Amino acid sequence: MKTQVAIIGAGPAGLLLGHLLKAEGIECVVLERQTPDYVLSRIRAGVLEQVTVSLMERLGLDARLKAEGLIEDGFNLADGERLIRIDCLGLTGKSVVVYGQTEVTKDLMDAAPGRGLTVIYGAEDVALHDIESDSPFVSYLEGGVAKRIDARFIAGCDGFHGPSRKAIPASSCRDFERVYPFGWLGILADVPPCNHELIYANHERGFALASMRSHTRSRYYIDVPLTDRLEDWSDERLWDELAIRLGPDAAAGITRGPALEKSIAPLRSYVFEPMRHGSLMLCGDAAHIVPPTGAKGLNLAASDVLYAADALARFLIRSDNDAIAGYSAKALARVWKSERFSWSLTKLMHRFPEDGIFERAMQIAELDYIASSVAAQTSIAENYVGLPV
Ligand code: APR
Ligand code: PHB
Repeated sequence: MKTQVAIIGAGPAGLLLGHLLKAEGIECVVLERQTPDYVLSRIRAGVLEQVTVSLMERLGLDARLKAEGLIEDGFNLADGERLIRIDCLGLTGKSVVVYGQTEVTKDLMDAAPGRGLTVIYGAEDVALHDIESDSPFVSYLEGGVAKRIDARFIAGCDGFHGPSRKAIPASSCRDFERVYPFGWLGILADVPPCNHELIYANHERGFALASMRSHTRSRYYIDVPLTDRLEDWSDERLWDELAIRLGPDAAAGITRGPALEKSIAPLRSYVFEPMRHGSLMLCGDAAHIVPPTGAKGLNLAASDVLYAADALARFLIRSDNDAIAGYSAKALARVWKSERFSWSLTKLMHRFPEDGIFERAMQIAELDYIASSVAAQTSIAENYVGLPV
């Protein structure tokens, strides 16, 4: 098979890129290792920046998002005693949309057949070849049969564990990593949210987050030691801990119910440079990971894809190579700023095992400063709603 862009990975990044390229008349094929159901089973965050909403609008795939997404003009930081509301709309003129990121993937997935976007599921042993040439290709197995896709570019949208990043010679790349000493235990339940806006809490006992998927479905998290297992946390124990960590006002609003889903996820900050090598471009989690504090993961994938689609269209339609050459630097400039925000909000809102009373005092002082400073709140707000693309 021959195409212009071979996309590896049918998560949000790969599907967004595929739809954008098809809309530009650029031929592409998406290769996905898993089944559609498996891809949709991945639990994901639920906050969309304007960049992600705008891409769905541009593709004409925002109907459900507009109908079901919850527009939120602010969010809250809590330190056990008080709620500090960050008025994003008032401070930046922008809001966020709460809409399950899995729903974004579903909307993109459902639209693919009708728009002629070829997604090959069950592609095994995907391997990249000749990425330093102008004629790279991807090999894979489909039903045990060896297949090959020749393309002008390969887009590595295959997440943190995919093969694309690893195809770049070690001498041509570097990476940066911070693994956090705790995980997030999350629960999804068909109960109304305790608050109409998100609450990130730093309590003496640890972190908690109150989020939602709709007016009738809630998503909550607490941080737990990496040694904890799901069986250590009954629903009741988790609801009790959430009520303590979120503080009395939020706790009064909590409606308990059985977990539809419960899982523990590790936290990591990770950046891989460069995001382009020869004819291979990396987008999304293939190139970077953020801790979920601030829900930047999908929104960073969206800005990567926006830049990549523009660069590929300039090259393939107008033979303009500048945007391709500048893709990595442009994408990384926004990646690093979001990495900084996600890392700093994680540091502010979590109790680290190595921290002493001084570090705790610094967290309380920073929350005091934020509570009393419009400048500090504006800084947080402009990062939370998403920095300019
Ligand atoms: N061959 C083919 N497909 C692969 C391979 C492979 N060897 N390895 C991984 N994949 C697929 C995965 O099965 C997955 O569907 O690539 C896809 C990568 O998708 P994600 O991991 O969701 O990464 P991305 O699309 O970059 O999404 C970024 O979305 O919801 C957020 O928090 C989430 O930060 C994440 C963001
Ligand atoms: C979620 O709703 O799952 C969510 C929201 C905000 C975050 C992380 C996760 O920062």
